[in-house]
Amino acid sequence: MDWSDTTRPLKAHVRNLVAEACGKGKKRAIMFPAGQALDVALFLAKGILSKRTKLHAIEADKDTARQMWLALFKLGMGPKAKIHNGPAHELSVEEETDLAFLDFCGPGTREEMDWIHSIASKISGPKADVFVTLKLNNRGAGFFADFLRSISGAPEFKMELAKVQGTPTTKVTLDGTVFNEESTEPTKRALAAQRLALRQVFSGLRFNMEHVVYRDLDTSTGKTQGSREMSLIHLHNFRSAQDRLLDWQ
Ligand SMILES: C[S@@+](CC[C@H](N)C(=O)[O-])C[C@H]1O[C@@H](n2cnc3c(N)ncnc32)[C@H](O)[C@@H]1O
Repeated sequence: MDWSDTTRPLKAHVRNLVAEACGKGKKRAIMFPAGQALDVALFLAKGILSKRTKLHAIEADKDTARQMWLALFKLGMGPKAKIHNGPAHELSVEEETDLAFLDFCGPGTREEMDWIHSIASKISGPKADVFVTLKLNNRGAGFFADFLRSISGAPEFKMELAKVQGTPTTKVTLDGTVFNEESTEPTKRALAAQRLALRQVFSGLRFNMEHVVYRDLDTSTGKTQGSREMSLIHLHNFRSAQDRLLDWQ
């Protein structure tokens, strides 16, 4: 799949949102840079990453992983990057991490959520940033659809749903014009379920949580068919559940 800026205008838009929201000077990062490592290039330019940052670069696809290694090498990240060529959830993260940009393209699985849970224990301090992108509204199937069905009557779900009211969906036309439209009710429910699941995954920590919803579109196909509704969720300003700052600074 092509993640270039020219055919996927919203991908660039979202990458820029991540760069604007993210703290600078990260020491250890976990990312999914894909074949062109455009996120790594942008984060280097913005001072989020530096050539001293230790980077876990994850890629399931073999050919894409090869291209990714070359792109990282050209960016000067070769010596500090560890490539994980396999499913993300098979990577055991041992070190403390201050940036996780988990740019999933799929709807999220139990294994991936368990893996994010394992990363939660490695979050290095209040200045860490975690970004997760996931597909929304997976036609009523998969982990989040089951999760939504199981919690939709619960008070905490209703509270989460109240928090996402007013969330627009950012869309793009085939000529590349970006615009916002009101999100549909199923979108808001799917988003609330993902937010709640992430709260549970990071239980034991308090944090702020922001999100955007966008309809990802590859304009090179000349049709809007195949566009996918995605969420980007940002967790930051981490504190312990006892409201005491962990001694991370
Ligand atoms: C959305 S793209 C990354 C785009 C990139 N972050 C950027 O800003 O241009 C996701 C990449 O990660 C890979 N990927 C997605 N989910 C994965 C998973 N669970 N395990 C390993 N690789 C995954 C995909 O093959 C794809 O190349």
